[in-house]
Amino acid sequence: MRKIIIAAIAAVALSGTAYAEVIKIGVVGPFSGPFALQGKNFKAGIDAYMAINGNKIGDDTVEIIYRDVPQADPAQSKALGQELVVKEKVQYLAGFYFTPDAMAVTPILKQAKVPMVIMNAATSAIMKTSPLVVRTSFTTWQTSTPIATVAFEAGVKKMISVVSDYGPGIDAENAFKAGFVKAGGEVVQSIRMPLTTNDFSPIMQRIKDSGADGVFAFLPSGPTTLGFVKAYNDNGLKTAGVRFFAPGDLTQESDLPALGDAALGIQTTFHYAVSHDSPENKAFVEAATKAIGNKAELSFPAVGAFDGMHVIYKMIEATGGKQDAEKAVEAVKGLSWTSPRGPVSIDPESRHITQNIYLREVVKADDGTYMNKEIRTFEKQGDPGLAAVK
Ligand code: PHB
Repeated sequence: MRKIIIAAIAAVALSGTAYAEVIKIGVVGPFSGPFALQGKNFKAGIDAYMAINGNKIGDDTVEIIYRDVPQADPAQSKALGQELVVKEKVQYLAGFYFTPDAMAVTPILKQAKVPMVIMNAATSAIMKTSPLVVRTSFTTWQTSTPIATVAFEAGVKKMISVVSDYGPGIDAENAFKAGFVKAGGEVVQSIRMPLTTNDFSPIMQRIKDSGADGVFAFLPSGPTTLGFVKAYNDNGLKTAGVRFFAPGDLTQESDLPALGDAALGIQTTFHYAVSHDSPENKAFVEAATKAIGNKAELSFPAVGAFDGMHVIYKMIEATGGKQDAEKAVEAVKGLSWTSPRGPVSIDPESRHITQNIYLREVVKADDGTYMNKEIRTFEKQGDPGLAAVK
């Protein structure tokens, strides 16, 4: 017995890597306040990944440390990012629902020697701010480009664009306009609303007055999107025949019960629908439902988080659990796998996810629940926004 123990100690000393370590991942997101359900979906995706894959990579144990930034708040995000790195000694930073929160933390990555895996924030330019960022969500350029084609093909020639006035909204506005004009249409007006807007009636009046026969909209998913789609319906735009086109943020599944019939028929383009028909998604939805406790609360941030964990696990494997940010990021460039959303890969140049974007329509399922039903696939979409921000 003594000999075995001595041999074991010698083996540990020689290999240098055999010490079991705890590898900490700091996750920043909205876990309280109006966007708490979005953060809850981050957690559900992470929990689902760890329920399926375990919390061990070799001898190392993965530990998640959550930090709450309830609304877009770059100063708070930066302070918490620093605290996670300096005090908690996290090896990875992840999460980040809002673009300004991600942007506030990318400047510290190099010195901290910590990669960031973005599980939601969707502005193209984030990737240009640090070579240590990898993104497993989407960009609004990526999701808003195909809907321009869809709107034009639906016979709409004059559109009005309405977006939240910050990174992903401005990207969405530019993406839609570029695609719609290229197709042959015209964007008659572009409205940018403050992120804090919650009374949408005046906007609905401006949409009516514009003479456009369709509206394109982007707002960050949460109470904002719920309020906007309700206002579109309540102010009579739907009955007036003003068509509605948007990326899928506007019809996230967790909003559908509250929207009810108001959302029926709305077409959106997005990277993920809870109803996506594949064995990978079936396993994911089962695990994520268990984690969140109620299937009706599941939404897209869960899949961004699930795939983000996949990327981090690959980084930990590649570095043998050692802190080497550059090696970790290098290891996932070109990585491809089958996500619950479909086939995906990490573009080696941009470090952003290449994926299918699906056209979906809100329909009522046989059991009376509402869902985004996929009706068309735009295959292997990269991020057209990167060329735009060069
Ligand atoms: C963002 O701030 O980048 C963001 C937030 C919510 C979304 C999309 C983008 O639904």
